[in-house]
Amino acid sequence: MNLVHHWLCSSTPWRHVLKREILPWVLAGVPLGEDLLELGPGPGLTTDLLRAMVSHLTAVEIDFGLASRLAGRLRNTDARVIQGDATAMPFAESTFTSAAAFTMLHHLDGPALQDRMFREVHRVLRPGGTFAGTDGLNSRAMRLLHIADVFTPIDPAALQARLEEAGFREISVDMKPGRFCFRAVAVK
Ligand SMILES: C[S@@+](CC[C@H](N)C(=O)[O-])C[C@H]1O[C@@H](n2cnc3c(N)ncnc32)[C@H](O)[C@@H]1O
Repeated sequence: MNLVHHWLCSSTPWRHVLKREILPWVLAGVPLGEDLLELGPGPGLTTDLLRAMVSHLTAVEIDFGLASRLAGRLRNTDARVIQGDATAMPFAESTFTSAAAFTMLHHLDGPALQDRMFREVHRVLRPGGTFAGTDGLNSRAMRLLHIADVFTPIDPAALQARLEEAGFREISVDMKPGRFCFRAVAVK
C-alpha cells in the first residue's frame, strides 16, 4: 500500500465507516461459524471488528511489516495473524467455516491472481462455508489513491461467473455508490 492508502486504512473515520456501514452490509445474514479466515487485514481495523464475532479468527496478510505489527497487537487474543499470500495459503483443505476479504481484491496483481485466490479460498473453506467480501469500484478517486500501487478493479458484472468457476454457488452481488459486496457458498 502507498502511504496515503496506509494512513486511510488506519484512520478513525475508516474505522467508523467499517463499523457502521461496511461490515453490517457485507455480513448481513452471513453465517460465520466458529472459524473465520480474513484475507488482507492490513492494519487490522476490520480484524478488530471481526474477531468480536467469532471464536477463532485467522488473518492472512502478505505485507511483512503489517502482519508483524498486527500479530504483535493481537498477541494475547484468540486471533492469529499469518504473514502469507492469500493466493497460496498454508492451510489444509476445508479448514475454515467462513472467509472474508474487505477491500483487498484490487491489490492482487491482475485477474488471474484474483481467480487463483478465489480457488484457494474455496479449497480451505469447509463445504457450505461462506465467502463474503467487498471492494471499491473503478473510479478516478480509486485510481488516484493507488498511484504507485497495484490497482486491479473487479467488474461486479463478471464476478458471479468468476466465483462459480472457482466452485462457489448461491452467489449474490450487491451494489452501493462506489462499492460492491458479494457472498458465495463453497460447494464441494
Ligand atoms: C486496502 S488494505 C485493506 C485492509 C482492511 N481489510 C480494511 O478493509 O481496512 C488491503 C490489504 O491486503 C493486503 N494484501 C494484498 N495482497 C495480498 C495477498 N495476496 N495476500 C494477503 N494479503 C494481501 C495488502 O497488503 C493490504 O494490507
